[in-house]
Amino acid sequence: MQTGGPAERKGFVVWLEGLPGSGKTTLSQTLGERLRSAGWKVEILDGDAVRQMFSPELGFTRKDREFHARRVSYVARMLARNGVATIVAMVTPYETSRQAARADVEIAFEEVWLRCPIEVCRARDPKGLYRRADGGEIHRMTGVDDPFEEPLNPDLIVDTANVTPAKSASRILEHLANRGYIQRVLATA
Ligand SMILES: Nc1ncnc2c1ncn2[C@@H]1O[C@H](COP(=O)(O)OP(=O)(O)OP(=O)(O)O)[C@@H](O)[C@H]1O
Ligand SMILES: [Mg+2]
Repeated sequence: MQTGGPAERKGFVVWLEGLPGSGKTTLSQTLGERLRSAGWKVEILDGDAVRQMFSPELGFTRKDREFHARRVSYVARMLARNGVATIVAMVTPYETSRQAARADVEIAFEEVWLRCPIEVCRARDPKGLYRRADGGEIHRMTGVDDPFEEPLNPDLIVDTANVTPAKSASRILEHLANRGYIQRVLATA
């Protein structure tokens, strides 16, 4: 249980995974705000922005996606070990990548699956990716012509089709409190 100021706090990685449109970016921001307001140093490694900076040369083959995830987990570990509450928001469609991330981060790693039926993600289509994939404009789109492997070993599952972002964030904070990474008062705020 963390009771001290930021300097004494041990960092952790919350790895949010799920289909495009499942709410990773939305939830990472809600979660980040809640942690920041409690005095945590927070960094969010969000799929798209991070990909442009870390892996502009990589595409969306299995090998490229796995390689990109390794880069992200490497940085996540560095942040976490320096006391940062690190939130990763990445589709992470392959089980091999999740297992590699868990092994790479090593310390305080919580895998959270944002479970949301593809029909709901499609209806949301916040970036128009499903529409473009259906139209043949983009290829290897997860959920369309590339698989999203069902997570085998998530630490927590959040139903983002039916649960509001605020409630999902509370659920994750409660989980982090159960694991002793944050104070319980934050989970019930
Ligand atoms: N209960 C909910 N939880 C999360 N998001 C929701 C919920 N209900 C509606 N939404 C909406 O669904 C959309 C989710 O989009 P978001 O960009 O967060 O998904 P994403 O998982 O980051 O997708 P991508 O992989 O393409 O980046 C947002 O427009 C959000 O407002
Ligand atoms: Mg996103």
